[in-house]
Amino acid sequence: MSNQKEITAKPIGKKVTVSSPATVANMVCGFDILGFAVNAPSDVLSVSQTNEPGIHIFNEDEYDLPTDPEKNVSGAALLALLDKAPDVKGLILTSKKQIKPGSGIGSSAASAAGAVVAANELLGKRFSNEDLVQFAMFGEKVASGVKHADNIAPAIYGGVTLIRSIFPLDIVPIKPPELFVTIVHPQIEVRTSDARQILKHTVLLKDAIKQWGNIAGLVAGLLKHDYDLIGRSLEDVIIEPVRSILIPGFNDVKRLCKEAGALGGGISGSGPSIFMLSKTQQDAEAVEEVMKDIYNKIGLDYHTYLTTINNEGVKVIDNG
Ligand code: HSE
Repeated sequence: MSNQKEITAKPIGKKVTVSSPATVANMVCGFDILGFAVNAPSDVLSVSQTNEPGIHIFNEDEYDLPTDPEKNVSGAALLALLDKAPDVKGLILTSKKQIKPGSGIGSSAASAAGAVVAANELLGKRFSNEDLVQFAMFGEKVASGVKHADNIAPAIYGGVTLIRSIFPLDIVPIKPPELFVTIVHPQIEVRTSDARQILKHTVLLKDAIKQWGNIAGLVAGLLKHDYDLIGRSLEDVIIEPVRSILIPGFNDVKRLCKEAGALGGGISGSGPSIFMLSKTQQDAEAVEEVMKDIYNKIGLDYHTYLTTINNEGVKVIDNG
């Protein structure tokens, strides 16, 4: 279904189309600072210029997302970009989403990152990746009330990204070893803003020590291609105990998938999706069967993805 509002703005010049990937934020222990992009699913977005001032949004999917640019994550990101491109009067954005909003696999980030990468390609690549992350974070603010980059950065850079600092922005891209990713999306919606609101604001020192040991272990494991270290480090003693109660079947998924051969995993972003990393495709397939079995028994609809880490990020698929 398309949005009812007719586009009156006329496109001028070429249209750039991109594929923008889903992302898994937090990577279990790295709340707000770690994330990675995956090869499926992804959204498709196109951007062209217009002489009609402002951002003009056209949705070509069933999600009925707002077309007011200030209330739309792609729109808010493009408004931030337009602010730094005074020679550009207006942009037309067409969006076809395949990543369901509220799924926990970076739906809003795919919209925001895809829009700004497409616009940047259209405008002769005048902005750096870091600039694009800054623009796209305005979209995340619309979606969750806060600027966080752990979905946006991997969507734009590809691979795994460490957000060492957000103010000022300091992104460390990490090229991971080959990893297979199995994701289950139980068909319930968890709003990121709600999943943030329930978190405690203080942390015990003993928990902090465990957590930063795991974050350091995970980063070292990724850089050294040490799969056992990666697996041991996929532990979260701060966020997961609070958020996992929102996800039916979470504890069974975690325990039984590890028994089936997964290195480890946990909540994807703010949930409800759960992801598992595996060293081989065979393990990832066994994990997918375990996930299906659990949700069939619970009687909750679900969707699974078996994919790999996307090292490219948002990809231009048509340059007009
Ligand atoms: N780091 C964010 C959170 C990601 O967990 O709230 C949201 O997708």
